[in-house]
Amino acid sequence: MSATRKRDLVSIDDLTNAEIEGLFTLADEMAADRKAVRDLARGLILVTLFYEPSTRTRLSFEAAMLRLGGSYQSCPNMDDTSAAKGESLADTLRVVGRYGDVVVLRHPREGASRVAARYSPVPIVNAGDGGREHPTQTLIDLYTIARDKRKLDGLCVAFTGDLRYGRTVHSLAYALARFGADIVCLPAKGLELPHHVVRRLETDFGCFPVKLTPADLKGAFEKTEGLLLTAGRPFQPDLFSNAERRSAIQRRLAHVDVLYVTRVQKERLKGEAVGDLPVIDLALLSENRFRNALVLHPLPRVNEIACEVDDDPRARYFTQVERGVPVRMAILAHVLGLKDLVVVEKSAKRRAAPPLYRSDVGLHCPSPGCITATELGYLTPEFHVLERRPLRLRCAFCDFLVEPRWVASRHERVFHRFDSPHSAKIHLENLVIFGSVDEAKRAGFEPADLAEIER
Ligand code: NCD
Repeated sequence: MSATRKRDLVSIDDLTNAEIEGLFTLADEMAADRKAVRDLARGLILVTLFYEPSTRTRLSFEAAMLRLGGSYQSCPNMDDTSAAKGESLADTLRVVGRYGDVVVLRHPREGASRVAARYSPVPIVNAGDGGREHPTQTLIDLYTIARDKRKLDGLCVAFTGDLRYGRTVHSLAYALARFGADIVCLPAKGLELPHHVVRRLETDFGCFPVKLTPADLKGAFEKTEGLLLTAGRPFQPDLFSNAERRSAIQRRLAHVDVLYVTRVQKERLKGEAVGDLPVIDLALLSENRFRNALVLHPLPRVNEIACEVDDDPRARYFTQVERGVPVRMAILAHVLGLKDLVVVEKSAKRRAAPPLYRSDVGLHCPSPGCITATELGYLTPEFHVLERRPLRLRCAFCDFLVEPRWVASRHERVFHRFDSPHSAKIHLENLVIFGSVDEAKRAGFEPADLAEIER
């Protein structure tokens, strides 16, 4: 076992592109010769902690651990554990991390796996945290696309269904953008990709968003409020006349390589009105643009894909399931330090994280799904500072984007608008940020200039 630091897999961003490719090579090896790895994890224990229902993710991780010669302990129903008595997530992980060698965690709150990774003495693998990310499903999806299409760069991947709460969509979109694929969003009305995910695709991964028109989407999806997110900026308005740009966009949409279908995450809806989407059936797939499209779905399918599609060679959702075991064997071998990844492009660097703001006073993450909303008492709010002017922060737990307007210095009792000349002079380590005037006042701060509040 290498003496490196604990290898958690909380976000798809925890792996560089080169590491992802190394992991895929390892998955190929796991699939090709099961006997060669049947003792790799002998004596090691996987703990599966699932606070939400699961069929594939839990059972395939357990199968993967058994195939590596290890064993597992499972908590399929957290209502039967001390979680039901009010035990904090931190304490639960401090405990189970002393029984097993790796923990696979699924939790309904966004950012839960980040909290777990901080408190667990052993690696944490995120098996889905609320509507945020599902990085191991992404690795399976990406592996299926990479092996079937023999490339990722330049592909056109269309997402349909619930792009708002579908965590598999978020982590797969980030990964595809990093590998240079274009993303087409075809959401059910009310379930569009969240603002913070679109912004992240733009700012962190250089995607350029273009709203699609019915003329761009002619066919089954023409009533959808579509969005094309291109790797790079090929459809920037100043590069074309309007008509040229529209026809270039339509040419781009003429060949979809992957149609990634998701179910509506009913359990996460907060009373939104949700529109209908066309069912994916053979008639829809007869549209010319889908002639070579792989049809993927993380499953469970409810009624998004007609059963008649199952026997079509483009249907790859049960192949995704099958590939889940070797991919998860590779993930376990990696995080347990049992195998080193063969990383071809050694120069591939991890992106530096933006500076961190951390304070018990002032701003809390306003997202109701954030883990900081329920795990009270031991978590200090933390945000990555993306920009000072305008003030733009990303919750370090759930990734939610916040644009607060009020700031103060720790050494004074007055607060200012973020864009006042005084605010710019406050060093990050002395900064206190407020989500509202009331929050600032409750914390004992007074406005420096009443006129600023009225502005
Ligand atoms: C997905 C999940 O849990 O996010 N399932 C899975 O792990 N394959 C998708 C879903 O539940 O719709």
